[in-house]
Amino acid sequence: MRPIALLSLLFLFTACYYDNEEDLFQYVAQDPASCEVTVVTYSADVGPLLTTYCTRCHRVGRTDGNVNLEGYSRVLPYVNNGALLGTAGRQPGFPAMPPSGGSIPACDLQKLTAWIEAGALNN
Ligand code: HEC
Repeated sequence: MRPIALLSLLFLFTACYYDNEEDLFQYVAQDPASCEVTVVTYSADVGPLLTTYCTRCHRVGRTDGNVNLEGYSRVLPYVNNGALLGTAGRQPGFPAMPPSGGSIPACDLQKLTAWIEAGALNN
């Protein structure tokens, strides 16, 4: 048990060691499957994401399903009732969003989830 714990600790340190900015940047650039979700903000991530995939149909002037996702204060109610993640995450009981063209990319969904789990701040 002890050697295994030591080995895991070593692995942890090694993993952290390589998490410095330069290496991480290269890693992200080389591997599209990697996804950085430690710092996710409304202004840099969630807002732009919604603009890309959602506000075409959910904005001032076009509110499909009577939903407007333009701006933090309009988005928040759909965070609180679970519909934002329910629709974008294609969870049962919610209409899949966007309705056509497939799911939003996995990394964007992870970012959305991380932002909500961190308290859905207006940051
Ligand atoms: C092509 C237009 C279109 C796009 C793009 C789109 N939606 Fe929708 N959305 C609709 C329509 C139409 C409805 C109403 C459908 C229904 O209630 O079955 C709807 C309903 C919703 C609802 C209400 C669900 C409920 O439980 O009543 C939410 C929340 C939502 N969309 C979120 C999103 C999000 C998040 C995105 C982006 C990831 C998105 N939508 C992209 C057309 C769109």
